[in-house]
Amino acid sequence: MTRIEEDAPVVAMDARDWADIRERQALVYPGGVGRSSGYLGRPAPTLVRGKGYYVWDAEGSQKVDLSNNFTTLVHGHAHREVTAAAVRALENGACFGLPNSDEVRHAEVLLERVPWCDYVRYTSTGTEATMTAVRMARAISGRDKILGLSPSYHGMGDALLSMIGMTAGVPRGVSDDVLLVAPDDRHALVEAFAQHGDTIAAVVLDLMPMSAGGRPLSPAFVASVASLAQQHGALLVVDEVISFRLAVQGFANAVYGLLPDLLVTGKAIGGGLPIGAILGRRDVMGILDSSKPRSIFHGGTFTGNPVTMSAGYAAMKLFQVDEVGRLNALGERLRNGLSKTGEPFGWTANGYGSVVRLEPRSQEPDERLRQLFWIAFEEGVALAPSGTLCVSTPMDDTVIDSLVERMSRCFHRLGSSPESTDGLGE
Ligand SMILES: Cc1ncc(COP(=O)(O)O)c(C=O)c1O
Repeated sequence: MTRIEEDAPVVAMDARDWADIRERQALVYPGGVGRSSGYLGRPAPTLVRGKGYYVWDAEGSQKVDLSNNFTTLVHGHAHREVTAAAVRALENGACFGLPNSDEVRHAEVLLERVPWCDYVRYTSTGTEATMTAVRMARAISGRDKILGLSPSYHGMGDALLSMIGMTAGVPRGVSDDVLLVAPDDRHALVEAFAQHGDTIAAVVLDLMPMSAGGRPLSPAFVASVASLAQQHGALLVVDEVISFRLAVQGFANAVYGLLPDLLVTGKAIGGGLPIGAILGRRDVMGILDSSKPRSIFHGGTFTGNPVTMSAGYAAMKLFQVDEVGRLNALGERLRNGLSKTGEPFGWTANGYGSVVRLEPRSQEPDERLRQLFWIAFEEGVALAPSGTLCVSTPMDDTVIDSLVERMSRCFHRLGSSPESTDGLGE
């Protein structure tokens, strides 16, 4: 097997600081984990360093990172230029209460990528961006309902959490205003518009919903959504928090030819620092213009902070057409390899370009994914607990082939799902 550890930097560890760190998580976090999306059934490995496509855990063990913080890090960890940009900004002051030059520069390069959008507003997370987009659509239309796919994840906003079925703590009045259809279910879509068309403020769409298996939606379904939304005066809000990395101008426009009323993004455009963004035409974005009567409020203490904006600018500058294409080809190579080796053991590799979603054929998919996580970690690969994976620009074909080899061993070791009758596993 190819040694992909060559040239990796040595981590200087202070064992005293990291002693028992895994167990210490359980003492500080409910459920022993800092975010629900990181839940692994037992104390998660604690990472102490990342460089390129590697991460190191507190025990000093090196892993190839296929999570990249839930698809955020297009350039892997601690990229020299991205890090230098963040440090430069930090040295000039971490944040200000007035506009800064880095946010304007970031906005200019971002808007260049989506020429049908006139304006952008930043947030600190994708959650805030999708929530704000929904509020904008409601304010513009004077309607309350939103329509989305079930399941699809759009962050932690009350209404949007309903789309992934997590309604504990969400007021019933809020979830009652959310209409759900299954991905590619055109019949249910037409029915929803027939019944509620004049009360729908927006359709919120992720064109490759990861929680529904990471398959790109069918172009025919997407075309129906766009035309029904337009017919009924509902805004089309496309959530590209993940998928914006798949094409310079985002997935919706590049692959489906869509010109959404509002495009929401985040993750990759922040160079590894917290970010969200809402982009759209002048008439739609005008609802955020405080000089206008009945505008809506959009704040955020850390919105547009220079450190994120500077790192994000550097990351975007390094991610032009050729590099996006090369990364998508690497993702394709990984997906094909994982499909071939995982299929006999009940695993499907979906996704598009640089994003790969591993799906188990199992009655207990979450448990199965957790089992795979732990085996992969032993084999030197850091997966995301959800099975949403991505490649990063420091990788090349050799790294991908080595990853496929390692994952093939994981599929073998894990064997077929007990509930799956068609696998060949041990
Ligand atoms: C499609 C999508 N939308 C929105 C979000 C929320 O973004 P954030 O975690 O930055 O709040 C996520 C996060 O994973 C996402 O995948």
